[in-house]
Amino acid sequence: MICNKFLGDLLLVDSFGRTIDYMRISVTQRCNFRCLYCMPNIPMDIGSEEDDVPLEGVLNFIKVAINEGVKKIRITGGEPLLRKGIVDFIAQIYQLSPSIDIALTTNAYLLAPLAKSLKEAGLKRINISLDSLKKEKIQCISKRDGLEKILQGIESAKKEGFLIKLNMVPLKTINEDEVIDILEYGINLGIGVRFIEFMENMHARSGIDGLRAKEILEKIEKKYSFKLLQKDVFGPATLFEIMQNQESYIFGIIAPHNDDFCKTCNRIRLSSEGKLIPCLYHENAIDIKEAMLYGDSQEILKRLKLCVEKKPEKNDWNENQTSMRAFYKTGG
Ligand code: 5AD
Ligand code: SF4
Repeated sequence: MICNKFLGDLLLVDSFGRTIDYMRISVTQRCNFRCLYCMPNIPMDIGSEEDDVPLEGVLNFIKVAINEGVKKIRITGGEPLLRKGIVDFIAQIYQLSPSIDIALTTNAYLLAPLAKSLKEAGLKRINISLDSLKKEKIQCISKRDGLEKILQGIESAKKEGFLIKLNMVPLKTINEDEVIDILEYGINLGIGVRFIEFMENMHARSGIDGLRAKEILEKIEKKYSFKLLQKDVFGPATLFEIMQNQESYIFGIIAPHNDDFCKTCNRIRLSSEGKLIPCLYHENAIDIKEAMLYGDSQEILKRLKLCVEKKPEKNDWNENQTSMRAFYKTGG
């Protein structure tokens, strides 16, 4: 087990005074889905296990990160549950620091049979993509007939007592008619929904268009009244509260197109190819693969600090820009 630095020690603070205490770690770029907004035209057999940085190497990085004050680690992909040894990997992170907040983002296709062992390993939170409740629509969006398995995954995660969030990316003419359905699915199960604005990128299907925060809220407003809450301390979402029969339900909107989105950014990313990425919408990346493989803690620390130093104040987003970076390499 390792101890975090004492309070007062310099942690990872970027040039704009933001403390970086959250790492998003992609363990593979492979995926069993082909979501329209992510990688629709890539063959199902991209890459193999050998292309992914060995998990022992990733653990070498995590040790250093925790020592530098990182408090939360989210495991992403591609689809992280495709990675062999993922449960043991999570257990090892937990053993390094039982207080670390370990989260996972998954499409849930493989989740149901793994939910119990993931819980036992020390995983605390799961974010699950749920873009439709219609079988054919899921097939159309993800190119997999996956609805039944996704819903089973959600139920198993709930049964195990995970803190769960559901992610929906509402796309015009595709699933925009299901904003209320997904919200109500969340309300009924007592699970928070996060509506995410589609982030344009050159790997998505061309011609797709996402709803912006305002358009999502207009749809919800037609059926529910809600009030704006404070910023989500656990993520980049703006939160809203619906009061119903004296019960409170909170949903969120993630709107990276908004001007103030980057002010409270506390994260950097590690790709499955071993690159440290200071910002999703920024082309900079720092190769850390060799240092991770050799377990060279000093070099890992040097590169981690460089990445934090290079973190831009704001993302490079503008109205006509599309990201070159594939989100399946960085876990969104
Ligand atoms: N725009 C918005 N969200 C995306 N995700 C992946 N690609 C995109 C994109 N282009 C999100 C999805 C999924 C998670 C893995 O990342 O919500 O749930
Ligand atoms: Fe796979 Fe997630 Fe990309 Fe969908 S969004 S193709 S589930 S990595």
